[in-house]
Amino acid sequence: MAHRGAGLCRGFSRYIKESKLAACSVKKWPIILRRTMASASSPICTTYIPEFDGTSGIKSYQDLHDLSLRDPDLFWGRLARSRVKWMTDFDQVQKCDMEKGDFKWFLGGKLNVTESCIDRHVESTPNKVALIWEKDEPGTEEHVTYKELYHKMNQIANMLKDHGVKRGDPVAIYMPVSPLLVASMLACARIGAVHSVVFAGFSAESLAARINDAGAETVITSDFAVRGGKLVELKNTVDAALEKCPGVKRVFMATRTNKEVSMGEKDFLLKEEMAQYPEMCIPEKMDSEDTLFMLYTSGSTGKPKGLVHTQAGYIVYTTVTHQMVFNYQPEDIFACVADIGWITGHSYGVYGPLSNGATSVLFESTPTYPDPGRYWEMVERLKVNILYLAPTALRLLLKSGDSFVTKYDRSSLKTLGCVGEPLNREAFEWYHDIVGEKRCDVVDTWWQTETGGILISPRPSAPGAEIRPGMPMRPFFGVDPVLLNEKGEELTDENVSGALCLRKPWPGIARTIHGSHERFLDVYFKMFPGVYFTGDGAHRHEGGHYQITGRMDDVINVSGHRLGTAEIEDAIDEHPSVAESAVVGFPHEIKGEGVYAYVTLKDDATQTAADIIPELRNLIKTQIASYAVPDIILIAPGLPKTRSGKIMRRILRKIAASQHDDLGDISTLAEPGVVQVIVDHHNEIS
Ligand code: PRX
Repeated sequence: MAHRGAGLCRGFSRYIKESKLAACSVKKWPIILRRTMASASSPICTTYIPEFDGTSGIKSYQDLHDLSLRDPDLFWGRLARSRVKWMTDFDQVQKCDMEKGDFKWFLGGKLNVTESCIDRHVESTPNKVALIWEKDEPGTEEHVTYKELYHKMNQIANMLKDHGVKRGDPVAIYMPVSPLLVASMLACARIGAVHSVVFAGFSAESLAARINDAGAETVITSDFAVRGGKLVELKNTVDAALEKCPGVKRVFMATRTNKEVSMGEKDFLLKEEMAQYPEMCIPEKMDSEDTLFMLYTSGSTGKPKGLVHTQAGYIVYTTVTHQMVFNYQPEDIFACVADIGWITGHSYGVYGPLSNGATSVLFESTPTYPDPGRYWEMVERLKVNILYLAPTALRLLLKSGDSFVTKYDRSSLKTLGCVGEPLNREAFEWYHDIVGEKRCDVVDTWWQTETGGILISPRPSAPGAEIRPGMPMRPFFGVDPVLLNEKGEELTDENVSGALCLRKPWPGIARTIHGSHERFLDVYFKMFPGVYFTGDGAHRHEGGHYQITGRMDDVINVSGHRLGTAEIEDAIDEHPSVAESAVVGFPHEIKGEGVYAYVTLKDDATQTAADIIPELRNLIKTQIASYAVPDIILIAPGLPKTRSGKIMRRILRKIAASQHDDLGDISTLAEPGVVQVIVDHHNEIS
């Protein structure tokens, strides 16, 4: 294991002292989008919120925002009762303690989130399309109505119960984006089981680690995934993972292709098995604070952590934010193209849209298959009104020119969302001017796996409120961001940068890390007592608008996917010839950040760099996932270290970014000469 210092502190001082993103954080972007017309139905807000009509003192958006901070019980209590279906009303809106990292919302309430997501729509609009499965081949989409989804969910729920899955049991799901994936998640929720969806791009090792950490006895998977015309083996990967998961008792496999895969004693064909069960299943009566799901994400140290989200707070928060941030209206076609294996897919591909009775598009393909016009051809064919994607896709697509966009009719579009990483100015302008023909709201939404839903976004806001490029701008209702300096002091002015923290709890906040509440407290609540620390830095512009300046810890954001540098180092260090490694991020034109690995070999290693680099790439692919494979691996004679043996990542980051003239004082290093050797090598290979 490489020697590591205290991740956050190191990251923090890097951010403050080196002003990592200062260049972009202090720029004053011109206002380029101005809404002048307030809709007749939205007296206080670009999104109409009828719950507060006639409430004394609420005349403007600002009044309502103030109320949400001043009286969260009134604000969230009213929305929770009107937007979500309850079996038993709650008797206390919240009981939260930021110091102790203890959050409880809607206490005493009983519900089953599937009643909000499915049953109530089956009663009112059974034949409305719930899901459009936009399959890999353009033009082969399938529609699933609310009633059909209800039946699928119930059959899987009954099947799971009959196979011994009980309330509270974890179920691992490793599937491609598909209606059966959604039905499987909902089926777990129906019977009170806890789903743990693992992104279907993860390796067998990663999958095994997540299955074991969750303690899952049940796995739901598919034979293959199909993406960009290529098959991805899922069942074989599950089989490999299960060699390390003795606790798994049963595997249900959906069939995406006609290809044969090996089936063992524990394996069942999902479609055939579920078909034997009734299409009705009584929903389990869950407590507001029972666990709904867990989802793993990377942190700066250690193994990925399983963030736990609970029933009521999560469904209230995703329902409300989905409607208000995107200004979702009942007939809109909503397309979140993120994979359901990530939190974006959970909250805005599944739970938020279904709870609002939306038609949600499930995107199985890639942005460039069969060509870079895929999204826009889909928008025309499906008449998509709201699109939600990642900036990395925009950066990739804009390189192919405008004609791939303009040849398709995009007149259905009204809101263009993005998430996962900063939306740089060029990508914003292309999205706004070319894709949206200068008439759509572009909503750059900031949030995290931990937050459950969107916390900072330009919408909702007052009618006519501006949207500025390069920043998510405005805290959502009830969200109270604070910026802190290194000493934990609050920076109250405008035009300041600091650690982005949240002072007030919101219903969607994760409740713990599965199996380690201590770790939950350490990561998010100890650094700055009394607030939730996001791990991100932010700049507050004039008007109180927030711009995210990047991670302050050792997390790299590759194409909107979070990766811990420690995870990658651990994988590299498993190679028998490797002595030590240090992984850093570097600016990457398309991916936002790329992965750069510096590796030293043991004295007795006999292999050459040319032999070892492909082995290391393969190792990371099998230990973690393809997207974690470094863009650059540099085999170095040594790493720059302080005399006490701490690796100077600051220097390695500068070299990776080709900022060789700005390495700072290296005279205090144990072996200063190693830096020049690394710089020369970097120049050769990059
Ligand atoms: O660094 C921030 C970045 O993504 C991190 C959260 O990653 P994850 O938990 O995987 O969730 C991604 C999707 C919700 C954040 O800590 N991030 C997310 N949205 C933005 C962003 N950075 C800048 N601008 C955003 N809009």
